[in-house]
Amino acid sequence: MKSTFATLLSFVLLTVHVANVSATVYQTFDALPQNKQFDYIVVGGGIGGSVVASRLSENLFTSVLLIEAGPDDENEEDLAIPGNYPNSIPRRFHWNFTTTPQEGLGGRSIDYDRGYVLGGSTSVNGMVYTRGAAEDYDRWAKVTGDLGWTWALLWPYTIKHEKFTGATGGERSIAGQYNPLSHGYFGKSKVGLPWSGPTEFDNRAMAAAKDPKSEFKFNLDLNSGNPLGLTWTQSMSGDGERSSASKAYLTPDVRRRPNLHVVVNTQVTRVLATGQASKKDIRTVEVGTPNGPRKTVTAMQEVILSAGTIGTPQILLNSGIGDSAELNAVGVPVVHQLKDVGKNLSDHISTDRPDPAPVDRDAALAQWRASRTGPLTEAVGHTVMWSRLDKNSDAIKAHGDPSSGANAPHIELFLLSNIGNQMYGGAAVLMTPQSRGTVKIASSNPFDKPLIDLGFLTHPFDILALKDGIRTMKRFFAHSAWANYTATNVSPDPDAMGEGEWEGFTRSVGGTTLHAVGTCSMSKKGASNGVVDPNLKVKGLKGLRIVDGSVIPFVPTGHSMAAIYILSERASDLIKWRL
Ligand SMILES: Cc1cc2nc3c(=O)[nH]c(=O)nc-3n(C[C@H](O)[C@H](O)[C@H](O)COP(=O)(O)OP(=O)(O)OC[C@H]3O[C@@H](n4cnc5c(N)ncnc54)[C@H](O)[C@@H]3O)c2cc1C
Ligand SMILES: *[C@@H]1O[C@H](CO)[C@@H](O)[C@H](O)[C@H]1NC(C)=O
Ligand SMILES: *[C@@H]1O[C@H](CO)[C@@H](O)[C@H](O)[C@H]1NC(C)=O
Ligand SMILES: *[C@@H]1O[C@H](CO)[C@@H](O)[C@H](O)[C@H]1NC(C)=O
Repeated sequence: MKSTFATLLSFVLLTVHVANVSATVYQTFDALPQNKQFDYIVVGGGIGGSVVASRLSENLFTSVLLIEAGPDDENEEDLAIPGNYPNSIPRRFHWNFTTTPQEGLGGRSIDYDRGYVLGGSTSVNGMVYTRGAAEDYDRWAKVTGDLGWTWALLWPYTIKHEKFTGATGGERSIAGQYNPLSHGYFGKSKVGLPWSGPTEFDNRAMAAAKDPKSEFKFNLDLNSGNPLGLTWTQSMSGDGERSSASKAYLTPDVRRRPNLHVVVNTQVTRVLATGQASKKDIRTVEVGTPNGPRKTVTAMQEVILSAGTIGTPQILLNSGIGDSAELNAVGVPVVHQLKDVGKNLSDHISTDRPDPAPVDRDAALAQWRASRTGPLTEAVGHTVMWSRLDKNSDAIKAHGDPSSGANAPHIELFLLSNIGNQMYGGAAVLMTPQSRGTVKIASSNPFDKPLIDLGFLTHPFDILALKDGIRTMKRFFAHSAWANYTATNVSPDPDAMGEGEWEGFTRSVGGTTLHAVGTCSMSKKGASNGVVDPNLKVKGLKGLRIVDGSVIPFVPTGHSMAAIYILSERASDLIKWRL
């Protein structure tokens, strides 16, 4: 009896030990066990990929392979420190993309960062957590004819993904700075309020918004589905650390699942037809290096593309899935005609913003390492203002109202509290752009950089709307609460400059918030436009689905990541239920 127990105990200990050493992250494709069969292959370890791989492998009888081009993020302190954003995150975790020369930005090419690491862009981003307006999601439902995409029916997925953790450090009260009913507490991604504050800047901003004579108002929680007003910033971080998609969904426990295999440092080049029966059954994934041989692996059930708004259309186009005329022009044989692949890119343009005031990094780093508190637990300012254009504004009178509904902001005022003592500044960001861009490929070589054209300021609505956004910011900072503060870097006054002069300046400084979506948009079942159906299956093909920001038809009226998490949680169920 005793020896049976001892045997059992040593077996358990051995199993735990083996499980520990065989955490299933492979550094190279060749290190994957040979002859292994996978039900699902997920391409790209960003939001979509981390969520789907994690959720599908909850069923121990479902085998999943996740392939990520960049390295593992485990034990990378640089990626765990929230305050490293943006300038202290090493370049080796980025794709280093730049855009094509932007006609609307005075011919400039601008950097277009994307994360190149497990966690994708959530490992390197600003962590600002905003869901946008409920009507944004209701519009997805309208565009696809699928009520499952409404804000209300997505709510269970919203709270399934979130684990609200309050303010880091726990020494300050956050009552009155968020609405407890707008949050989930048992999900995966940590979300919280800043460690510090309210600062003097925050108090002034609140006073300006709460003044009953002011046109502005305070809004308790920007994530309620109605974001309008001055709100406290929420961040996808908790306990002083960044909560990226990989940290939240590919935890050590998940990595140890015997049915989940994760391979990093492996770029997918194409997806290919599987077997001879049909050219439209696409379940084979090709990987490779610029000068090495290409290798393939085939899924028994499905391939899920989660390579992001840039990476996913790039892989489809490399594979001959896209507009046939464009594919012919770069010498890629057409496998499947689908004209909207890479079209309808939608992103937020921002006016220039000042740099944050420097912190004493050595002291801050020592504090962060010792207690996960201090200035390095925060990345951006504490407050954000969301506002609508007047219906009589030039932009709306001339070009209509592109917003999804009456609670959706046209303009985000990113108020900058971290630029120095007694100073105010901020950027106006256009939440409802009408300009659209594209992602194309330059050649038939999958290792060539994609051609990213944001199309910024190519639609006349957008420059007019930005102009009104800056006027809104000026009205806000004109409030007496800001007495004794000086302005820094608030864009020049459109009403004090010549028309052409102001516009030229704005085009010369305008930048991106890196929120692009839309390049593989969802649309109605059977509709000839769009790339995926309401269940995110690629139109006209078998075995291929897309789960990432590229399927979102209009950029949300918030920063993009929250919407992609919510979408990815629902998508995981669609796949599990074989819909
Ligand atoms: C610097 C920066 C700051 C941002 N700040 C914020 C913010 O504060 N708040 C917010 O809400 N949003 C922010 N965003 C946007 C947000 O991070 C993205 O919208 C979101 O992460 C996109 O998720 P995704 O899964 O679609 O793609 P990604 O997160 O980009 O993931 C795609 C993954 O696929 C991998 N991949 C791509 N191609 C291949 C291939 N061929 N083979 C294998 N793997 C591949 C990539 O390496 C990456 O890991 C920011 C983005 C950036 C870049
Ligand atoms: C981006 O540049 C850095 C060096 O600056 C490099 O280490 C990294 O590999 C590059 N990313 C890609 C995808 O090539
Ligand atoms: C501005 O500064 C003056 C002089 O220091 C001071 O008297 C006044 O109270 C300040 N106003 C505000 C709103 O802080
Ligand atoms: C993309 O944009 C084009 C041109 O505006 C439009 O015809 C098409 O229907 C759009 N596709 C989707 C899926 O929205």
